Amino acid sequence: MDDWDILKTHEAAINKILSSGYQTLIGKHALILKQGMQYISHVNGLKILDAGSNHGVLSLVASRYCTEVVGVEHGQEGHNLGLKLLEYFQKAGVSEYNTERVRLINCRIGDIDEKFEGVMAYNVLYHLSPKELDRMTEIISQCSKVIVQSRKRSKSGVSDLHKPDLIIKYLSRMGFRCEVEEPNSPRPIILGSKT
Ligand SMILES: C[S@@+](CC[C@H](N)C(=O)[O-])C[C@H]1O[C@@H](n2cnc3c(N)ncnc32)[C@H](O)[C@@H]1O
Repeated sequence: MDDWDILKTHEAAINKILSSGYQTLIGKHALILKQGMQYISHVNGLKILDAGSNHGVLSLVASRYCTEVVGVEHGQEGHNLGLKLLEYFQKAGVSEYNTERVRLINCRIGDIDEKFEGVMAYNVLYHLSPKELDRMTEIISQCSKVIVQSRKRSKSGVSDLHKPDLIIKYLSRMGFRCEVEEPNSPRPIILGSKT
């Protein structure tokens, strides 16, 4: 079963846990999540950072593919929801997801002091301050694989690092070869690899 179908099987429980304004499995956000999660196998077999993990849905899905998943979220609410979501999936015993591989940390990316083999940066790079982005760049440059979900439309109050072409330049400078998936969608996915 694909990840979206697995999550849909638990839709009522997930939406109850995440009910405080997070339209996780319905609406526009659901389409973005559904699109993005199809590419997580790109970081298969790696220890990964899920940068800006929010409610932890993508960290949970990554536990199917990755040896270790560290979800970092500075917002207290999103972090707490992620803990509840993991607890639910642990108790439900969903065999595809290895919740014991996931660590959710409530801090800033700039405060992370460990190494990773891959990074999932979904809808987050453009939210980072220059100092946070410097740390993110250090982490990404040590990795062999990276996934970025970009955003074509501009958004006020954030940096330009949502634009697919700028993200490709950013990753290429670190030595990544980039492939763009779903270039015509509002949220193209950029898969970076070093070989
Ligand atoms: C647009 S949301 C994307 C959430 C998730 N990655 C997704 O695509 O569904 C960006 C998330 O990054 C978090 N965030 C922003 N800056 C951060 C930082 N410096 N350190 C940790 N989390 C951060 C926000 O709180 C928010 O939950």
